[in-house]
Amino acid sequence: MFNWIKYYKRGLLALGIFLSTSMLYNAQDVAEEAPEATQNTQEATDDSSSAGIELKGDPEKGADLFKQNCTACHTLDQKLVGPPLGGIVEKITQDGQSMEWIHQWIKNSQALVKSGDPYAKKIFEENGSVVMTPFPNLSEADIDDILAYTSNPPDEAASAAEDQANQQIAEQIAKKNAVDNTSIAVIDGFIILFLAFVALLTLIYVRVRKLENLSKTPEELSKEKSNKILSLNNIYEKYKLVGQGIIVVLVFLAGYGIWNWLMWIGVYKGYKPEQPIHFSHKIHAGINKMDCQLCHSGAKYGKVSEIPSLNVCMNCHKAIPEYKGEYLEPGRDRDFYTGEIQKLYSAVGWDPATMTYSGETHPVEWIRIHNMPDFVYFNHSQHVVAGEKAIIEGFNKKNPNDKIDVVCKACHGKIDTMNVVQMANDFTMGWCIDCHRTTEVDMDNTYNQAYFEKLHDKLKKDYGTGAKITVDAIGGIECGKCHY
Ligand code: HEC
Ligand code: HEC
Ligand code: HEC
Ligand code: HEC
Ligand code: HEC
Ligand code: HEC
Repeated sequence: MFNWIKYYKRGLLALGIFLSTSMLYNAQDVAEEAPEATQNTQEATDDSSSAGIELKGDPEKGADLFKQNCTACHTLDQKLVGPPLGGIVEKITQDGQSMEWIHQWIKNSQALVKSGDPYAKKIFEENGSVVMTPFPNLSEADIDDILAYTSNPPDEAASAAEDQANQQIAEQIAKKNAVDNTSIAVIDGFIILFLAFVALLTLIYVRVRKLENLSKTPEELSKEKSNKILSLNNIYEKYKLVGQGIIVVLVFLAGYGIWNWLMWIGVYKGYKPEQPIHFSHKIHAGINKMDCQLCHSGAKYGKVSEIPSLNVCMNCHKAIPEYKGEYLEPGRDRDFYTGEIQKLYSAVGWDPATMTYSGETHPVEWIRIHNMPDFVYFNHSQHVVAGEKAIIEGFNKKNPNDKIDVVCKACHGKIDTMNVVQMANDFTMGWCIDCHRTTEVDMDNTYNQAYFEKLHDKLKKDYGTGAKITVDAIGGIECGKCHY
């Protein structure tokens, strides 16, 4: 008889060994892989610099910044208001200017011209003495990104692909929301198990056929043979080892696939839907320097940080009916922004002429961008209050060139530079776990001291004082901490 129990046991054993090693293996994998995702900074090293200048920026981010700030006057390959900027770093440095000079120019070209800098004067005059807008708000890193883009533009196809990717993510989310996440996991698991089963059944079937053949008379057998029905059995005998090998490999791959898929499922980085009112974080949080918590006060105290109610907006906008700011996104004018403020008024039923509410309201349906599945427990205050110092320090250590001052940016990216909020990180399980593995807990935090006092003493004893204690050591990678 076919000893299926033996195979079943072997299979289980293999799966068991695999799952336990893959946890270890993956732990490293994630640690290696993820910083890229978490850091969300300039990894792109450049080999394009012909003049031996090092361009440390990220051309893809640069592409966005270029679109937002420069396309009103520049293209890469044609003269518009200003000269073409493709390969501009190479040109200017070959003319003997430094990278600092280019940074200064972009921040405030007129200051350079007025300081009597001969090269600045020369290009100003060559271009008909048209004044280039100053960009005091661009950080050094932003400028590096833009310059990396001008020297090394990702092809057009890439940016078209980005739009498409955005669309796809939206569809993916719509789909994902339609079907319960856990059921997807279960179904996928089943499909893989099912395939493994089919393979096993085939083996069993072939075995049974062999037994059947044994009980047949030689005549019957030779008849079958003469009918040239090639028995699967022969194939099986020939390729027995190969077949078993394939099954073992399949089981391994399935296990690996499931685990990896769980760690990195739902990568939404880059998701950037247009909202019903064009609310610019850059104008509010960036240029007008509003604190994030002015509007997202829940982040400090609660599990969710919430989108502010329109009353919060009206605290200011009763007195701000139109946009008079200096800053304009390319292709947009002040009327556009004023129109958006009018949308706010019509939503809350405010009549700016009489300064009264009409009572007629049309709620604004903000499109939710970040959204964890229901079975995940994520608490903002744990991170924004207890973890604040640890997270800021951890991030700045990993990104010495791109430091943050506000804890929110570690996870949400530089929201204060975004006109439209974009998902800046993966927000996968692997992303959470990676940060927990690499961020040192702030043991002196008073909130923590009270909460973890005993645990911390024990950890200090176990690991020795002064040792690095990362979030995983306090339970930050236990399934139950993040899953109900
Ligand atoms: C309002 C139009 C305008 C905008 C917006 C603008 N520029 Fe310019 N830019 C010019 C003009 C005009 C010149 C030519 C020099 C001059 O007349 O001052 C110039 C020159 C330059 C030069 C020097 C070119 C050379 O040939 O040496 C660089 C570099 C540059 N711009 C970068 C940028 C970047 C980067 C941005 C976006 C962050 C930007 N500019 C946005 C108008 C603009
Ligand atoms: C003046 C009010 C205001 C301020 C200040 C503000 N926000 Fe917002 N925020 C909003 C509104 C309104 C939305 C919803 C519309 C949108 O997505 O742009 C939002 C959306 C967001 C979202 C996306 C929410 C989602 O759907 O997942 C994040 C993340 C966010 N804000 C973070 C920040 C951070 C970080 C800061 C500080 C740098 C900040 N906000 C400052 C009003 C504000
Ligand atoms: C703390 C005060 C304050 C709050 C709160 C506030 N705004 Fe503004 N808002 C401003 C200022 C200042 C400007 C820029 C006005 C200017 O430069 O002339 C502005 C500009 C705008 C604009 C035009 C620029 C853009 O972002 O597209 C819109 C639309 C707008 N606000 C909507 C909102 C909405 C919606 C809310 C509530 C979620 C809100 N504001 C909350 C102060 C505020
Ligand atoms: C440790 C990472 C992390 C930090 C730090 C963080 N957030 Fe979040 N934020 C998240 C995650 C994860 C979600 C999705 C939560 C969900 O869907 O339940 C989220 C969602 C949001 C949302 C959407 C509404 C909601 O609550 O689900 C807003 C708004 C927001 N964050 C603002 C902020 C602000 C403001 C700060 C800083 C005070 C901040 N966040 C700090 C990870 C973080
Ligand atoms: C940028 C780094 C960072 C990211 C990303 C991050 N966390 Fe954390 N998390 C921390 C830190 C730091 C602490 C410890 C806070 C403290 O000192 O109590 C923590 C603590 C926790 C705890 C409490 C652990 C315990 O043992 O009590 C939970 C639960 C948690 N995080 C869930 C999540 C989830 C879910 C995500 C992903 C959606 C996430 N975190 C993403 C940094 C991060
Ligand atoms: C630090 C927080 C954290 C820890 C610890 C954690 N998870 Fe998760 N897990 C998440 C988040 C966040 C998601 C949702 C990811 C998404 O939807 O993109 C998730 C998703 C999942 C899913 C469902 C995938 C899906 O979307 O269908 C499973 C199953 C899962 N985790 C199992 C585990 C197991 C088993 C452990 C313990 C080994 C564990 N998790 C530990 C944060 C965590």
